Amino acid sequence: MINIAVLGYGTIGSGVVEVLNTNGESIKKRAGDRINIKYVLDLREFPGDPVMEKLVHDVNIILEDPEVKIIVEVMGGVNPAYKFVKESLLRGKSVITSNKELVAKHGAELLDLAKEKNLNFLFEASVGGGIPIIRPLNQSLTADEIVEITGILNGTTNYILSKMSDDGMEFEAALKNAQNMGYAERNPEADIEGHDSCRKIAILSSLAFGMQVDFEDIYTEGITQISAADIKYAKALGARIKLFASSIRENDKSVYAMVAPMMIKVNHPLYSVNDVFNGIFVRGNVIGDVMFYGSGAGKLPTASAVVADVVDAAKHLGTNIWTIWSSKKLELTDINQVQH
Ligand code: HSE
Repeated sequence: MINIAVLGYGTIGSGVVEVLNTNGESIKKRAGDRINIKYVLDLREFPGDPVMEKLVHDVNIILEDPEVKIIVEVMGGVNPAYKFVKESLLRGKSVITSNKELVAKHGAELLDLAKEKNLNFLFEASVGGGIPIIRPLNQSLTADEIVEITGILNGTTNYILSKMSDDGMEFEAALKNAQNMGYAERNPEADIEGHDSCRKIAILSSLAFGMQVDFEDIYTEGITQISAADIKYAKALGARIKLFASSIRENDKSVYAMVAPMMIKVNHPLYSVNDVFNGIFVRGNVIGDVMFYGSGAGKLPTASAVVADVVDAAKHLGTNIWTIWSSKKLELTDINQVQH
């Protein structure tokens, strides 16, 4: 039996419990042992029935328990997640996280620490919800030099733009729906202002280019300025408006990155990525073009990616399996200097 602890019993945390309860038997075969949730950390007194007997309010109980081998951090936000994750690694526990703010800000350091300790720090769910994209970039595409990543990386904004375009829904009503379905961030400004997409493209770029891409350096524009009239004009032109996150390497060296709404036509590979779905287009110098598509947000898709990481960490206790990206900063080319 492999004991794990889940930090945070919100949408994703409860999804992790549900996935392990639903698929426990097949997961046991794949992990080589049963995955047992020993603790759930949550500040609330009654976060939900299935975990009441595992509930703790003090993280030190988890950190000090040598039986806990894997920590699942699904609290979100940089603090106190960073403190808890770093302390977990220092105490010999592998960490799985869905937390893009944490990975974008401290990924290089935490990956380094995990490697030093022969542990794993895995974060498949931090980008694209249930879509496998971190593992492919880190394993399957390592023969390539990545020259472009362009994605629809935020389910909430894609949902809003799709509903405005297809159903004539107002912005506010579509956002409310996305919040009710558990897609949006606690503070939905992170979605609609493009910050969530920005952190995700920073993570993918750091992985693809092997150096730290700071999210603060990425030109970022959200969808709050998109009006019903813009949607109408796009439709009249046979186009759709999508929030794109792109990172492109030119002339084998300079990289530029941006997040902005784009008008795309039917021949674009991401044209049919609608509703809460995410799509990620990757171009490698030898493989050519590859596409990833699936549910980019929501309880069970995201929990699926988290639990898959738990299985990987359980299979590799005591062995680091992850490529790291250097903490050396990659200087991005100013988007205004790019000429096409
Ligand atoms: N708020 C995010 C989204 C959740 O809408 O895509 C998944 O990261």
